[in-house]
Formats: sequence, C-alpha cells, structure tokens
Amino acid sequence: MPRDLRDVIEAIVAGVVVLDTEGRVEEMNSAACRFVEASRRAKEGAPVEELITPRHAVARLARTALASGTSLTEADQPIERRSRDDALVDVTASPLFDAAGRVDGAVVVMRDRTMPARLEQLEAEQHRYEAFGRIAAGLAHEIKNPLGGIRGAGELLGRRAEDDKTREIADMVVREATRIASLVDDLMVFSRGDALRPAPLNVHRVLDDVLQLLSLDPLAQGIDVVRTFDPSLPELSGDADRLTQVFLNLARNALQAMAPGPGTLTIETRMELDHRIVLQDGKSVPTLSIAVCDTGDGMTAEQLRQATTPFFTTRSGGTGLGLAVADYWVSQHRGALDIESAPDEGTRVRVSLPLRRS
Ligand SMILES: Nc1ncnc2c1ncn2[C@@H]1O[C@H](COP(=O)(O)OP(=O)(O)O)[C@@H](O)[C@H]1O
Ligand SMILES: [Mg+2]
Repeated sequence: MPRDLRDVIEAIVAGVVVLDTEGRVEEMNSAACRFVEASRRAKEGAPVEELITPRHAVARLARTALASGTSLTEADQPIERRSRDDALVDVTASPLFDAAGRVDGAVVVMRDRTMPARLEQLEAEQHRYEAFGRIAAGLAHEIKNPLGGIRGAGELLGRRAEDDKTREIADMVVREATRIASLVDDLMVFSRGDALRPAPLNVHRVLDDVLQLLSLDPLAQGIDVVRTFDPSLPELSGDADRLTQVFLNLARNALQAMAPGPGTLTIETRMELDHRIVLQDGKSVPTLSIAVCDTGDGMTAEQLRQATTPFFTTRSGGTGLGLAVADYWVSQHRGALDIESAPDEGTRVRVSLPLRRS
C-alpha cells in the first residue's frame, strides 16, 4: 500500500482492516489493533477468522462482502477484551474492486460504540427511575393519609381494649401500619422532588459514619471490619446524607449475607485515574471507587441480574429497595454501581463516583 494511503487509514478513529482477495489481513490501523488486542505484525497475512473469532461479525461480514461484492453492516457487536471492559462496535464490511470490476479485497471498519452505548444505558435508567418516581410519589400520597388514620384508630382501640387478645390485635395493626409507612418513605426516595444537595465532602468520613452506625447492629457481631482507605483521595462533590444511605444499604446487605458470622467486611477506596466518567457538560473526569466486599453467601447469576430492581428480594422481611435506592442515588451523582458476586464466593459492590470540583 502506498505510504500516504497508510497514513490516511492510520489517522481514522475507527478500526480499519484491509483484506486481500483470500480474506487475509493486508493492513490494519492502530485502532483496529486496540480492538483485537494484537499488533499489526502479529496479524499481517492471517485469515480474517483469526482477527477475533471465526464467528464474529468481522469475519462473517468480510466473507460475505468478498463473496457477494456488496457492503454490509451490523450494529452493536461485542468484542471481548482481556485487558479492559468488552468493547461494542458497529461493523461494516465493503468489497474493494480492481480496474476490471472484480472483487479483489475488502475493507472492514469497526466503529466504537462502547461509550455512546454506556451513555444511552444511563439515560434509559434515568427515564425508568423518573417514571417510577412519578408513580411512587402518587401512590405515597394516596397511601400515607389513610394509613395515618388506620394507625390512629389502632392506637385508640389498643387503649380502650379490655382484654389481652384485643390489645394484641390492635398492636399488630399499629405495627404493620408503621411498617407500611416506612416502606412508603423508602419509595419516596425515587420521587423527583427529592433533589440532590451536593457539597464538598470527604468520603472517608461518610464511610466511618456508616461503620460507626453499624457497629451497634447485632448483625455486626463476629464480623471483622477491614478498611483499606487510600489516604491521598481528594474531596468530592456529593450529598453526604444520600451517600451515607447508599453505603449503609450496601454494608447492611453485606452483614446480612454473612449472618450469623464469622466473616469479613472490607471497605476499599481508591482513585481510578484511567476510568473516566463523562459529565453532562461533556467534560470527562477521573473517578473515585469505593468497594464494599463481604465473604457471605453471594448471589446466583439470576439474582445478580435482578438485584437492583425495585422490590426484588430473597430475604424474608426484605423490602427489595436497598440496592435500588443505592443505585438510584449513585446514578444521581452520575456515578455507577457494579456488582460482582457468585454463590459462596461473597459479593463485591463497587461504586464509582466522578471526581468533579464543586
Ligand atoms: N451483599 C450481598 N450478598 C448476597 N446477596 C445480596 C447482597 N446484597 C444484595 N443481595 C441480594 O439482592 C437482594 C436485594 O437486595 P436489597 O435491594 O438490599 O433488598 P433487601 O435487602 O431488602 O432484600 C437481596 O434480597 C439479596 O438476594
Ligand atoms: Mg438490603
């Protein structure tokens, strides 16, 4: 290939691979090398099937373009990568023709969709929560007023009761009404009126508060608590009350998963310089990550998939709102919550928060 043409494909942001008539790699640019995690020299002359896998869209589309002389595109094709998160690419394969109009090669273009896809997903989540918030706010209003009445009536009944049985039943009415009221309060968290009040804060102080609160919990007995705090963390802009709630929910789940002990609860913080988050204004900032890890019973793949869905619970007496609320407040901070878990291997919940200056 003439040198100037090579410079052109090198300068293209998308991954570009040029194939000969046999479907062997003739040329590829650095973006393509990053997608397939190999050097140009390693892949030169190799059949297109060896770029990723024989079944990958890159190979399939290239073969079809070579055989049929037509151009094809497939959107959102995942590429597994060893060194980082999987990539998502739009793949286009187009035939190249010689002077006589015969197909004598093909060019495959991989357009990076990883970042746009993550942003779209984030946006869809926000919409989901907004819709949910509107329903929750409406319901909460309708439920709380009559509930107050039921509770008041229960109390009155209890006071007037003349026998133990009636008193017991009245107590139950009051107890259950109170439980529903607090469930409704949890739900209100999703309503839109409850806005974030960000201020500069020290995340270690938030975590220390959470551990302090939990030390009084009977569930914390027999559990070792390990703090692996990165002392160089700068302050971040966030809502201390909401983040306290987030980490309280996560740590409480961890303790429940390890009950009745023994076990180890580890809280780890660190700067992630190469994991950046794109903010609304288009600026990308580094992130701070806080991991809450336990040595408890872990989750099955199906539980893991559903864990942050509101009302999903496997615990008797659970509300299924702990992780949904945590996920909600983290996304309001424009951060991300990721869970890694397997049965009997414990759970690691990682919260990444953007380090933006306030
Ligand atoms: N640390 C954890 N270890 C194992 N399972 C967990 C953990 N955290 C959450 N889960 C699972 O996710 C479900 C939902 O959690 P959550 O939203 O906090 O609701 P709840 O605690 O009320 O059940 C739990 O019922 C449990 O099955
Ligand atoms: Mg919970």
